[in-house]
Amino acid sequence: MATDLHRAQALISGARRIVVLTGAGMSAESGIPTFRQAQAALWADFDPLQLASPEGFQADPPRVWSWYAWRREKVVGAQPHAGYFALAAAAARIEEMVLITQNVDGLHGRAGSRNVIELHGNILRTTCFANCGVRIDDPAALPPGIPPRCPRCDSYLRPDVVWFGEMLDPALLARAERAAADGEVMLVVGTSGLVYPAAGLPALAARSGAAIITVNPEATEIDSIARICLRATAAQALPELLGGRTAA
Ligand code: OAD
Repeated sequence: MATDLHRAQALISGARRIVVLTGAGMSAESGIPTFRQAQAALWADFDPLQLASPEGFQADPPRVWSWYAWRREKVVGAQPHAGYFALAAAAARIEEMVLITQNVDGLHGRAGSRNVIELHGNILRTTCFANCGVRIDDPAALPPGIPPRCPRCDSYLRPDVVWFGEMLDPALLARAERAAADGEVMLVVGTSGLVYPAAGLPALAARSGAAIITVNPEATEIDSIARICLRATAAQALPELLGGRTAA
């Protein structure tokens, strides 16, 4: 691992354009369960299609709204770990660093990362289920109700996250794909690489000549196209990997 770590540090130190893709494993050490790890899975007690889909919401709006309210409480109580701060600090030293996340917990922003591409939305933001254009960024500003009603059109409000069967924001996806195609190094942290189109970004980066570095205690599909696989957790590896970078 030490050799891999030094090789990874050298790749990062020598790169002008770095793109980072994070998944739920990035937040595991901040106390937020991942999606597919059996022992702590977020879905353990729920059927995702019942809860994280437009059909599930329409079938039982109070149930889906309450599940997201529970998840939002967990997120608000979570603190970014050292790996988050290492990423935020590294951005100031790297000529161009684009941070793409599949996570909806907003922890990258809370750790100081700017212009994060939140491909799957943000659980702290709320929008109108009828897409009338209303968007409420601050959970404290939500009207009462489970779920609350849209102040403009009286439809239900819903979490501003991508649900199963929904398309990603095309502009966000295009920005992420451009960053993946332009990156000299892609750092992939804490994702099983199973959910597309986000899971296609490492292959796009590799096809464009980027060196892929993965940070994950487990093996994933992405390892087959990775230059270096760091078998470590995000909170352990990122401060060593990024903190070790000599000042630009
Ligand atoms: P998963 O739960 O599928 O994968 C989490 C990955 O993180 C696994 O490969 C774990 O081995 C790894 N992991 C666990 N703890 C870690 C740690 N401390 N440090 C680093 N890695 C760790 O989560 P995602 O890949 O993010 O989609 O799932 C992708 C998407 O599937 C989610 O964004 C969500 C879900 O359906 C939407 O919400 C649209």
